[in-house]
Parts: sequence; structure tokens; C-alpha cells
Amino acid sequence: MHFRSLRFKLTLWYVLILGVLLVSFSTFLYFTLSKSLHRDVDSKLRSLAEFIASESSSPLSKFGFGNIDQALETSMNLKPIGKFIQVLDESGNVGRKSDNLKNVQLPISLSTLKNASEGLITFETNRSIGNTPLRIITFPVVENGRVTKIVQIASSLEEVEDALNTLFIILMITVPLALLVAILGGQFLAHKALKPVDDITQTVRMITSQNLSQRISPPKVKDEISRLIETFNEMISRLDQSFRQMKQFSSDASHELKTPLTILKGEAEVMLRKERSSQEYQQTLKSNLEEINRMSQIVEDLLLLSKADTGEIRLNKEDINLTEILTDVAAQMDLLAKSKRLRLSTSNHQQSIYIFADALRMRELLINLIENGIKYTEEGGSIHITLQEEYPAPVRNQSDRLEGERGKFVRIIVSDTGIGIAKEDQEKIFNRFFRVDKARSREQGGSGLGLSICKWIVEAHQGEIQVESELGKGSSFIVKLPLSPPRMMN
Ligand SMILES: Nc1ncnc2c1ncn2[C@@H]1O[C@H](COP(=O)(O)OP(=O)(O)OP(=O)(O)O)[C@@H](O)[C@H]1O
Ligand SMILES: [Mg+2]
Repeated sequence: MHFRSLRFKLTLWYVLILGVLLVSFSTFLYFTLSKSLHRDVDSKLRSLAEFIASESSSPLSKFGFGNIDQALETSMNLKPIGKFIQVLDESGNVGRKSDNLKNVQLPISLSTLKNASEGLITFETNRSIGNTPLRIITFPVVENGRVTKIVQIASSLEEVEDALNTLFIILMITVPLALLVAILGGQFLAHKALKPVDDITQTVRMITSQNLSQRISPPKVKDEISRLIETFNEMISRLDQSFRQMKQFSSDASHELKTPLTILKGEAEVMLRKERSSQEYQQTLKSNLEEINRMSQIVEDLLLLSKADTGEIRLNKEDINLTEILTDVAAQMDLLAKSKRLRLSTSNHQQSIYIFADALRMRELLINLIENGIKYTEEGGSIHITLQEEYPAPVRNQSDRLEGERGKFVRIIVSDTGIGIAKEDQEKIFNRFFRVDKARSREQGGSGLGLSICKWIVEAHQGEIQVESELGKGSSFIVKLPLSPPRMMN
């Protein structure tokens, strides 16, 4: 497993947290049990000492030497098992003691003796006698306000320590074992959780521009991973689409340039076959020039669109009078319309309409739309252009009014009575190089880039462009552009 892998980190954290938990729990368990067992021993020692000391007919009533077991049994019917008992006088001399002590004495330190003489009880653990640890209580017996005797009772801590040692061994074995299981389990879980990620990596690695149609198969369960896969698949779809468009675009562009080149080549070859008259040369050169013009127009349009794509074109926006520009362009296009016996008209606009836009681009937009109208309308038809100012719904007070004013926009509607566009083609006409009737459009000098440029111009001015059309009846191109915000007069 790689140390930097997510799998390793997940397992490490999991084991680390579990380890800390287990160790804290074990420590807590061990110390709580140890404390409770020791307290138990102490309280038993103390109650026995109190009992012995409090009995009036106690075998202590008279300090003496000899065996205490018998004395306890006869006078108090007490037979303490596993306890070592000894009685001392107030200055620490050992008197009676239990049989099991044989010739050994329970130790008493000076400080303990001092405590006892002051009437204080002392608990001690002693490991110096034999090899079993002893818990010893030193209990002063107070009679008439003074310490007369001291009772010492000891109890072996062997059982307690045995129990604690067993617990310690159990914990020392189970905790590492549990951690080992946690490491294996954690690895397994991390592997299981991250398996789909590996699958994604594998598939994505195989996807190149050549097989963008490939998708990652989504898991059945809806979870974070399935969402990731969905997102990935959507992204691949978008890439696929862009790639297709790019391929289509380059093949269209080269095709578009190839036609005039083929014509040029053919004409030149025919001309060079034999000596020609100067009239023939002139005619051919004229035709060549037409093709060259067409090519340079295509290249210019393509350059403009590719610059627009990369955002390299700076718009020279200023407040411009749209009404004026329209009148100007209409007059210019009227010549073209007349030559085709078409009627070109604009609505009579009394008021000037100002927009914040690039004047040259606005001209280009109007020219393209009117030119299309002229191109795709049969002789005798008409083209009409209207400007419509649109106001948002009326507003109640002054502050709202300013808000509303900003929402104002203008519609430019270019309608013709031409051939119209079929429903299924209406959304495609804004695509680059798309023409409904390629041969016919080319005949009229079109390459299918005009509306792509219009769309870019409109969008660069935060506007929208739409088409409404009926086959055989005519089309209307509707451009919606925001009006200039109201300015302070000075
Ligand atoms: N007013 C219209 N009436 C009918 N069809 C139209 C109209 N305007 C555009 N079209 C259709 O949409 C296609 C795309 O128009 P666009 O202006 O992009 O290209 P074009 O006019 O063929 O060539 P270009 O404008 O580059 O010289 C046209 O080929 C034509 O089929
Ligand atoms: Mg056009």
C-alpha cells in the first residue's frame, strides 16, 4: 500500500482513533478495578479492626501475650480467615498475635506509631514479609480518651494482584489483537469504499479525444461516488460535443475554402492550356478576383469569430443613437434591395433611441440581418425594420422606479416576406457554416457565418437574438438589447 494513498491514510486514522480509545478504556478499566478492589480490602480490614476494638469483652481488654485466635473465638465467636492480627501496647511492644504469624511480627514504622499514638488510623502496603504483598491497618484503641492499645491487622493482597495481573494480561493480548483486526478491517473497508474511484481512474485513463463516446458505468446505489460519476459523464458529454463541433467546424471551414480554390485552380489551368485573347484573360481574372474576395471574406469572418471565442475583441462601447444608425444602414441597403426589386422600409421613428454599444458592430449586425432578408426574399417582396422600446411593468415609488428604468430594453425586428425557415432548421441557422440550402446560398455569395457573427455581437452586448419564421411566408429576426441607463442631465 502506498503511504500517501488515501487508503493508507484512512486506515491509519481509523486505527489511530480506535487505538487511543482502546488504550484509554483499558487504562480506565484497570485503574478503576484496582481502586475498587483495594478499597474493598481496606474497608474489610477497618471494620474488623473496629469490631475487635469496640467489643467490651474483647480479648484486648487486657493487654497480654499469647495467641489471639483462640481469644477471639472464645470471646467474640470470630474466626477471621486469611488475616494476620497482632496487638501492641501504646509504645509499640507486640503482645498477642495470631497463629499464622508464627514468629514473624507485622512491621510498624515510627511515623505509623506516632500516628497511632495521636489516635489516627494508618493503611500501608508492605512487600517485605515473605513474597506476598500485605495490606496493613494500624488501628489505635482509645479508652477513656487515651490510646491504650494498637491493633494491627494485615491481609494478603495476592488475590487482588492476581486479579489485576490477569486483567492486565488479557488487555495486553486483546488490545493489540483488536488493533490488528482493525488494521485489516480498515484496509478492507477503505479498499471497498475506494474501489469505484479506482474504476473511474481506469476508465478515465482510457478516454482520449478518439473515444469520447465512452462513459463510466454508474453504480446502482445513489451516493457520493455515483454523483461524481454522473458529473464526470456530463463533463465527458460536453467535451464530446465540443470536440464534435470543432471537428465539424474545421471540416466545414476547409471545405468552404476548398471550393473557391478548386475554381481558381481550374480556371488557371484552362487558361494556361493555350494562348488566349486579352479579353479572355480579363474575364478569368475578374472571376478569380470574385473567388479571392469570397475567400478573404470567409477568412476574415473566421478570424473574427475565433478572436471572439477567445475574448480578444475589445468592444468600443459608447452611447449611440440606434435610430440614426438604422436610418443610415437602411439607406445604404436600399440600393441592394432596389436592384432585386424589393421594398425596404423602416417604421417612422420620431424619437432617438440610445443604447450603450459599439457602433461599428451594430452596423454589422443590421447589415447582416437586412442582407439576409434581401438574399432570401423573392423579387417583389418586402423587408421591414422596426425599433420597439420596451418598458417593464409600472412601479410604485421613486426608488423602485430607478430599479425599473434599468430594466428597459429595445427590440430590433427585421421582417421579410421571403422563403422562410423550416422549424427544424430555426435553431441551427446560428451555427457556423450552417445554411439551409448550401448551393443556393453559395450562389449568392453566402458562407453561413453571418448569423454566427450576429449572435456573437448581440451576446457581447448582453442581448438575445431569436427567429420567428414560417416556410414560404417570411421570417422575423428579433434582437433584444438593453437600453442605456438613464443619465443625469447637466
Ligand atoms: N431572412 C431569412 N430568410 C430565410 N432564410 C434565412 C434568412 N436568414 C438566414 N437564413 C438561413 O440561414 C442560413 C444562415 O444564415 P447566415 O447569414 O449565417 O449565412 P449566409 O447568409 O448563408 O452567409 P453569410 O451571411 O455568411 O454571407 C442561410 O444560409 C439561410 O439558409
Ligand atoms: Mg447572411
